[in-house]
Amino acid sequence: MRLRSCIALELLTGGTLFAGLVAGGIWGSQLAREGLAHEAQAATELPAPARVVEPVPLPPPVSPHTELEVIPETPTMFLGVEDDILLAPLRDSPIAQVKFNTGGSSISLRIDFENGARAAFKPRQTNWQSVPRREVIAFRINRLLGLGSVPPAIGRRFQMSKIVGALTPESRFYRPRLQAEMIQKGGWVTGELSWWIPVIRRGKVDGYEIDSMEGIVSWKRYLAIGAKIPERDLALVQQISDMVLFDFIISNPDRWSGGNARVSEDQRLLYFMDNTLSFGDRADGHPKSRTYFERCHTFSRSLVERLRTLEEEEIREVLERDIEPFDYYLRDSEITALLSRRDRALKYIDALIRRHGEELVLAFP
Ligand SMILES: Nc1ncnc2c1ncn2[C@@H]1O[C@H](COP(=O)(O)OP(=O)(O)O)[C@@H](O)[C@H]1O
Ligand SMILES: [Mg+2]
Repeated sequence: MRLRSCIALELLTGGTLFAGLVAGGIWGSQLAREGLAHEAQAATELPAPARVVEPVPLPPPVSPHTELEVIPETPTMFLGVEDDILLAPLRDSPIAQVKFNTGGSSISLRIDFENGARAAFKPRQTNWQSVPRREVIAFRINRLLGLGSVPPAIGRRFQMSKIVGALTPESRFYRPRLQAEMIQKGGWVTGELSWWIPVIRRGKVDGYEIDSMEGIVSWKRYLAIGAKIPERDLALVQQISDMVLFDFIISNPDRWSGGNARVSEDQRLLYFMDNTLSFGDRADGHPKSRTYFERCHTFSRSLVERLRTLEEEEIREVLERDIEPFDYYLRDSEITALLSRRDRALKYIDALIRRHGEELVLAFP
């Protein structure tokens, strides 16, 4: 993102400089005219100068701050709203009410805040596989790749007493489990808040739920070279292609275990939810994420192009911001592994392109 804005900055600075030079040329020739007139007048008083030096056209002064102000970094979005706007109410408001989210295997809570905002909270927990910090990384990498499918997420720390003290009557049953499994330090629990998607549904392709066996067979068939996808399923099938590629890049083994690939009410948007098992040092990706990725033979041209230009510096930059309350986001070895998976993904896609041609492989915009 920074690089993109840098390029924009360079283009604009270049444009300003160009305009400056043009304006400077005019300004310079005015100077020259005035200078010559002055010299002509001076010539009546003083001996003529040996030679007239053409004034060098000077660009008008350019303040670097002016450019920085006029080129805001393109904001990243979720459901048509800037991520920062959705995240702002989750940052400080006190907890009003906490509900235990049933259905998954880890501790996942729904928190209502006093200011009316709502979020899903994943705490650090004794289930060592579920690492809340990774949800925030998945969100940031998702946006870095130009996608808007992981709900916006931030880190936050709460007092254990405030969490368990705000449990709804039907969730109080989980109190002992929360106290036993949430990791606390001096009475504080660190975790991740994901903006709460008001309505989520089970997605269907060919009439089958996308994470059922029949559903997986259906979308795999539609993601084969040259497959004709019915209009009804097109939007979701394209996003499933993005999702399996994204999951390979972040090495997410947990997409198809149930509940982690949900859709909007109108079945047109796919949400990439629950990414807390992702990342790590595997350069070849988790076997599960690799298997699903290799079921896919058609991809989005823009996502593949973005992967080609992705630079380590960009990843580091988005992971260096807003780290609190975590100690860090990814270790160096995990960043190296992520870039290796990117390279492997592109190698796989390029082999498909060599075999079938770009038109058929990069079939989606
Ligand atoms: N951001 C969110 N918006 C709406 N519902 C959510 C959100 N995050 C989680 N949920 C709900 O909570 C359930 C469990 O959350 P999840 O993160 O998948 O935890 P688990 O690790 O237990 O599977 C999900 O299946 C979903 O119904
Ligand atoms: Mg889940």
